[in-house]
Amino acid sequence: MAEEGGVFKKNKDKEKEVDEGRRTFLKTLAVSSVILASADLLSILRVLGPAKLKIPKWPKLKICNVKDLKPKVPVEFNYPLTITPNLLIKLGKKVPGGVGLDQDIVAYSRLCQHLGCIVEFLPEGKCDKYPDRDILYCPCHAGYYDADDKAKVLAGPPPYPLPQVILDVDENGDIYAVKMGPPVIYGVTPKGSDEVWRDLLLAPTKIVKGTG
Ligand code: FES
Repeated sequence: MAEEGGVFKKNKDKEKEVDEGRRTFLKTLAVSSVILASADLLSILRVLGPAKLKIPKWPKLKICNVKDLKPKVPVEFNYPLTITPNLLIKLGKKVPGGVGLDQDIVAYSRLCQHLGCIVEFLPEGKCDKYPDRDILYCPCHAGYYDADDKAKVLAGPPPYPLPQVILDVDENGDIYAVKMGPPVIYGVTPKGSDEVWRDLLLAPTKIVKGTG
């Protein structure tokens, strides 16, 4: 009887050990799930890279026709997301990256690369600091971008140029946005990154509806 009691106790101890093991395993599993769930999605995407992910295609968006444009009068449009504003401008002189017969049409994101404020267009002669340039100006902290030269930073805190919208003009003069150039659109992916594809991947429901 005494031995039976011993065996009974041993079995009990064994069960307790197994329960402990199970508890530890479940606890570890729960902690791992929390860590995984809270991991930075962008970091995971960075490791995976575009090659292993199904990247949405760049939309092709008709903006306007060359006949609708007046020199130095910007046209606003959202691209590639419905929440990302840009300006299309006919500068009236040939500029790097310009399209159209005179290679004078460009488009840039309006989202300042410093803290994401909206930039304004100041045509030549309207900016005291750079009167001989076409300027994209951010009023939040006085950021100056050169609209005549790929929206490079001329002054202020912005660390990078404004992303350029890649344009295409067809034989009828219709102007399309077909892609977004680096650096990245502010606020969605890491600053300075040229992995603009992640903007599309992370916000598929906000991609503009293509018309081309
Ligand atoms: S947000 Fe544009 S300069 Fe600071």
